Amino acid sequence: MRPLAIVSAMHEELHALLPLLDAPSQRTLAARRFHIGTLAGQPVVLVLSGIGKVAAATTAALLIHEFDAQAIVFTGVAGGLGPGVKVGDVVVATQALQHDMDASPIFPRFEVPLTGRSRFDVDEVLSGHLATSAEDCLHRADELMVRAHLEPFGIAAPRVHRGLVVSGDRFVSTAAESRALVQALPDALAVEMEGAALAQVCADFGCPFAVMRTISDRADDDAHADFSRFIAEVASVYTRVVVLHWLQQ
Ligand code: ADE
Repeated sequence: MRPLAIVSAMHEELHALLPLLDAPSQRTLAARRFHIGTLAGQPVVLVLSGIGKVAAATTAALLIHEFDAQAIVFTGVAGGLGPGVKVGDVVVATQALQHDMDASPIFPRFEVPLTGRSRFDVDEVLSGHLATSAEDCLHRADELMVRAHLEPFGIAAPRVHRGLVVSGDRFVSTAAESRALVQALPDALAVEMEGAALAQVCADFGCPFAVMRTISDRADDDAHADFSRFIAEVASVYTRVVVLHWLQQ
């Protein structure tokens, strides 16, 4: 069976899954360690892409070309942009867009030149399953031991949102920049640095993909401090709980 690929940008986002891998083996390519094995009986490849759009694109191309991935899920953290998108919520993308793509006036702002597209659609079935798994896990936060990790952050009733996720090679860490993004893209729910690059590569190859992000900060003046604490203490817990729940379905 072709493997499912699960990708994160940073170690903190993926490390709780690595010890759970059955029959593990490794292959190193392009300075990345690809962890091959099974999770919940499902063949998988787990890999850290590194941060940013180029790192994500390199990783996606390798997963498709060298590992014959049947689908790719990018999981990790993001800054919240949408009005009700709070720290501790989960955003599962319906579309991904590169917010720093701008070849205007030759092409419309955000459009990937010569593709005629700015928004790339995720795989609906895969994303639907991930969203359902995230909802189940957040409803059962006590039982799944997630609650203890959330309380120190004042996260009481985390929610799952579905919508536009935007990506760019910037950590958005001022309220002014985040406001400008929302003004330009009013339906954007979250900002991160990889998802839309994965989307473009997957569109080229015809590979199904999904992006699932836990909100670590509000992409504002406090983003840096919030991000650092959250990624150290919570990010991997979400990934482990939700991804395992999804694979077990
Ligand atoms: N990932 C997590 N928080 C982010 C932010 N504020 N900007 C970009 N990527 C992020």
